[in-house]
Amino acid sequence: MGKIIVTGASGQFGNATAKMLLEQVPAEDLVFLSRTPENLAEFAESGAHIRRADFDDPSTLQAAMEGGERMLLISTVRVGSRVEQHTAAVEAAVAQGVKHVVYTSLLGVRTPGNPSVEGFDHIATERMIEASGLAWTHLRDSLYAEAVATAMAIPALQAGRKPENSGAGRVPIVSRDDCVATAVSVLTQDGHANKAYDVTGPELWTLPDAMALVSQMAGKPIEVEPVDDEGMYAYFDSLGVARKASDVMPDGPIPWASEGMVTFGQSIREGFMDVESNDVERITGRPPRTLRSVLEQYRHLWPQ
Ligand SMILES: NC(=O)c1ccc[n+]([C@@H]2O[C@H](COP(=O)([O-])OP(=O)(O)OC[C@H]3O[C@@H](n4cnc5c(N)ncnc54)[C@H](OP(=O)(O)O)[C@@H]3O)[C@@H](O)[C@H]2O)c1
Repeated sequence: MGKIIVTGASGQFGNATAKMLLEQVPAEDLVFLSRTPENLAEFAESGAHIRRADFDDPSTLQAAMEGGERMLLISTVRVGSRVEQHTAAVEAAVAQGVKHVVYTSLLGVRTPGNPSVEGFDHIATERMIEASGLAWTHLRDSLYAEAVATAMAIPALQAGRKPENSGAGRVPIVSRDDCVATAVSVLTQDGHANKAYDVTGPELWTLPDAMALVSQMAGKPIEVEPVDDEGMYAYFDSLGVARKASDVMPDGPIPWASEGMVTFGQSIREGFMDVESNDVERITGRPPRTLRSVLEQYRHLWPQ
């Protein structure tokens, strides 16, 4: 088998994937990419190939993809420019003879009518990959438990309140560890070509119930305030967050727009993420982690 390429190997998802792959695959068969290879210094001694790749500079991509057979394309984070970036990566992969692209997508995106703006980039990317002629696997990851345990829980515990527009909608919160393990299995096993998987945790949660668990474990109150979408926008306005991705300052202090968060909540409320699946256990051979276990792992970061 040719080499396995991991894009964004310096990020949280990519770093964990790189480490797990190194346990299972000879290092010389692995290629780790970053815009700044120094960010991958911890892998320098491993024997894996460390290469520079910038999706915004396609001239860097051909050399980066050389010798690859499978590529994990970890979606970038800048909503709005992602499709162009992902397309540049896939075009370079095609040109270099890569055979199979595994893409980190989002749960529920292909359900017609899903309002999630974050999802639009994923839909366009999934379609672009399917049209590329390469074999593909879409990993449709649910909401990360690690994001609930940190980005969601910490400000909520600090403020003692959390405005919420997702209502009674349910989402199968998943540990990023399980998403990584699923990606590694797909990259190292056969039989996953041209398939889309729902990468979910073991339980469906409403976000108010998830915050109630955080509150109970922390021994501190979190009052969840149900708001409509406009109320949710107003909350983010008060924090100085731009509404539209097109208004986000490229190097500003807040690199994301509230429309992504508000329409994500709307998509949960309207049931687009209410998905049950056993894909994680089927593919990795082990049951996915519970939300509680991930919260236990991160509770040391919570305000006392
Ligand atoms: N489902 C969920 O709840 C959830 C939550 C959070 C994130 N996510 C998704 O998970 C994905 C990965 O998240 P993460 O936490 O690993 O992100 P992260 O830590 O911010 O890492 C982003 C990675 O992308 C690389 N990158 C960014 N722009 C690039 C470009 N122009 N060219 C090449 N590489 C580029 C970065 O590499 P360098 O900076 O070293 O170049 C970095 O390795 C994101 O797509 C995000 O959409 C999902």
